Amino acid sequence: MAQTLNLTITADVLTPAELSAAEARCWAAAQAATDHAYAPYSHFHVGAALLLDDGSLAWNTNQENAAYPSGLCAERTLLFGLNGQRPVRAVKLMAVAARPQNGEFVAVTSCGACRQVMIEFENQQGAAIPLLLPGPDGTIWRFKRLADLLPFQFMPDVLPPRS
Ligand code: THU
Repeated sequence: MAQTLNLTITADVLTPAELSAAEARCWAAAQAATDHAYAPYSHFHVGAALLLDDGSLAWNTNQENAAYPSGLCAERTLLFGLNGQRPVRAVKLMAVAARPQNGEFVAVTSCGACRQVMIEFENQQGAAIPLLLPGPDGTIWRFKRLADLLPFQFMPDVLPPRS
């Protein structure tokens, strides 16, 4: 008989008041970053932020272009940029926020391409990075690790060795 594979993805559903002080800083940084999105085509502003182990914050935003596919999501702009500047660091937490250009914050989940990049970033550092995402009705979803967002991600260990 055919077997069935069942997956469970778990996240805490929090109110803003339930965030720790460190989580609240990272959350606020992601929200504040949305002011600096370059999104003249979608008018959808996304901010992503990281809390590093020295207590500092890093953030970035989505960057668009008239040649649409040339743009990049906030999450990847942030992670690629940090990797290029500070390849040796420990990231303790990630947060994402989004809103229409002139509107209120909305619930959002990172796109598939970003999830793949987020997981490789987490694997590169070798330690879990919890993630805060805006859930419905002003709630905050807290995942224990970036990998929880994307089951069945592509893993580089299937790539053939260089000859
Ligand atoms: N966007 C992000 O920045 N992150 C995501 O995970 C999904 C979408 C951006 C890309 C584009 O600039 C705008 O939101 C609309 O898709």
